[in-house]
Amino acid sequence: MRTPLIAANWKMHKTLEEAVSFVSRFAVLAPERKIETVICPAFVHLAAVGEACRKNGIKLGAQNLFWEAAGAFTGEVSPPMLKDLGVDYVIIGHSERREHFAETDQQISRKVKAAFQFDLVPILCVGETLEQRRANRTMEVIAGQVSTALHGLNAASVRKMVIAYEPVWAIGSGLSAAGSDAGAAGKRIRAVIGEMFSLEAADAVRILYGGSVQAENIADFLRETEIDGALVGGASLAADSFARLVSRAQEAVTV
Ligand code: 13P
Repeated sequence: MRTPLIAANWKMHKTLEEAVSFVSRFAVLAPERKIETVICPAFVHLAAVGEACRKNGIKLGAQNLFWEAAGAFTGEVSPPMLKDLGVDYVIIGHSERREHFAETDQQISRKVKAAFQFDLVPILCVGETLEQRRANRTMEVIAGQVSTALHGLNAASVRKMVIAYEPVWAIGSGLSAAGSDAGAAGKRIRAVIGEMFSLEAADAVRILYGGSVQAENIADFLRETEIDGALVGGASLAADSFARLVSRAQEAVTV
């Protein structure tokens, strides 16, 4: 029922030339995709990468946005600017933004609302730190992040969104969570949405796992009924490794 989704978060990587040639190489290596594939390049590469993506059936995502439509906010990028460039998805509340740019759950909530207002699909990131995990607070932290970010929305919007469970300690560490941990987090996220909105919305939301996902472990996550795909950092930077990952994911979802 839920279409599997694999999203590449390129973070602050690649020159323009590298970004565009990735797309054509990836399209050759993974020509037939039943899985929805999204590439999230840096803002400055959205236009060029978007053009290449459109030709190849790949969706386009941004890595952030600001909540106002326009105004005196030097250095920020608004939802209509992203919409203008053909952006479909927008990553919101990535742990690197929470950590390095002090983004709060309240700011993240405003960003999620702004995305919906301009018809962009948010990929909301949540996840616990190692310290929180050691203190057995994982579920409480995830539930709090989800409920604050979604406060004030309605079921009709929420059902369309994507939530990425990305434990902070698993990002870029080579140490991924176990499939069952991701499954448990996914279950908790759906329970929160079920309580806040409706069981239908809880069932419709797509939940991704992120944190050291590679071709070798993607099947462990897709095997979990609550997990619908992955948000991939490092392994999405080379066309070959990303194509291998997408191909493994396709095998896993058709089994
Ligand atoms: P890695 O896949 O490099 O661990 O990064 C995950 C991530 O942060 C995706 O948003």
